Amino acid sequence: MTAKILDGNALSAKLRESLRHRAAELTAQGCQPGLAVILVGENPASQVYVRNKIKACETVGVHSEKYEFPADTPPEKVLKKIAALNADPKIHGILVQLPLPPQFDEDEVLEAISAEKDVDGFHAENVGLLAQGNPRFISCTPYGVMEMLSAEGISLRGKEAVVVGRSNIVGKPMTLLLIAASATVTVCHSQTRDLAFHTRRADVLVAAVGKPKMITGDMVKPGAVVIDVGINRLPDGKLCGDVDFESAKEVASLITPVPGGVGPMTITMLLANTIESADRAAGK
Ligand code: GUN
Repeated sequence: MTAKILDGNALSAKLRESLRHRAAELTAQGCQPGLAVILVGENPASQVYVRNKIKACETVGVHSEKYEFPADTPPEKVLKKIAALNADPKIHGILVQLPLPPQFDEDEVLEAISAEKDVDGFHAENVGLLAQGNPRFISCTPYGVMEMLSAEGISLRGKEAVVVGRSNIVGKPMTLLLIAASATVTVCHSQTRDLAFHTRRADVLVAAVGKPKMITGDMVKPGAVVIDVGINRLPDGKLCGDVDFESAKEVASLITPVPGGVGPMTITMLLANTIESADRAAGK
C-alpha cells in the first residue's frame, strides 16, 4: 500500500480563504484583527518562523507588529512590552517565539501575556481550560493536526492514538485533544522502554520528538494515519520530519509530508486564533 499524502498547503490555502473573509468583515466593522510577535535573540529557525507568521498575516489581512530584542535583553524589558501589548486595543493576539535565551523564565513570560490574547494557548489558564475540555485557545500545531484529521473525515472515537513526544507545545495539548475526541491515547517519550511496541498499535500515530526520521516504516501499523510534526534540518540543508517518510508511506494509509504537511497548518491556526480573539473583542 502507498499512503495518500495529506497536503497541508492545500488545506491551509482553503482555510485562509475563509479567514481572509472573516478578517475583512471585522476590519469593515473597525476591528481589524491584530497580532504582535516578539522575538528575542538570533535563533535562525525562530527568525524563519517569525518571518513566516508575519507574512501569513499579510495574506489574510491581519494587522501584525514584530518586536525584536537582542539575546542579552533583560527579561523586564520584554515583560514591559508584553504589558503594553496587553493594554493595546489594536492587538488581539500576542506571541512570544520560543525558545527564549537562558536568562528568561519561560513560564513567567507566558503567564505575563493576557490569557485573552494568548493565541498560542500556552498560558496556564488556557492549558487548564483545554484540560477541562473547554478550550479558549488551542495551541496552533495540535489544532492544525485536528483540522487535518477532520478535513479527511477521520473519526477518532475508540481509535488507538499514540503520541510520541510530551512537550508543552505539541505532545501534551495533542494528547488532550485526542482524548476529547474519544481516542484511546498512549503518550511515549524519551524514557519509553519499547517505543516500536506502542507505535505498531497506533491507528493514528503523531510524531513530535524533534529527531530526524526516527519513526521508520517497520514501526507503523499497516493502514495507520501518520502525522509528522517534526521539522528537522539535515546536514545537507534539507528539511525532514521525525518520520522516515519513504518507508512509512509504504505502510500507512495516510501520511503528512515534511515540508508541506503540519507546518503550514500551524501558522493557519495562529491566524484563526487571532481572528477568533478579534471576534470576541468585537463582542461577537
Ligand atoms: N517555538 C516552536 N513552536 C512554537 C510555537 O508554536 N509558538 C511559539 N511561540 N514558539 C514556538
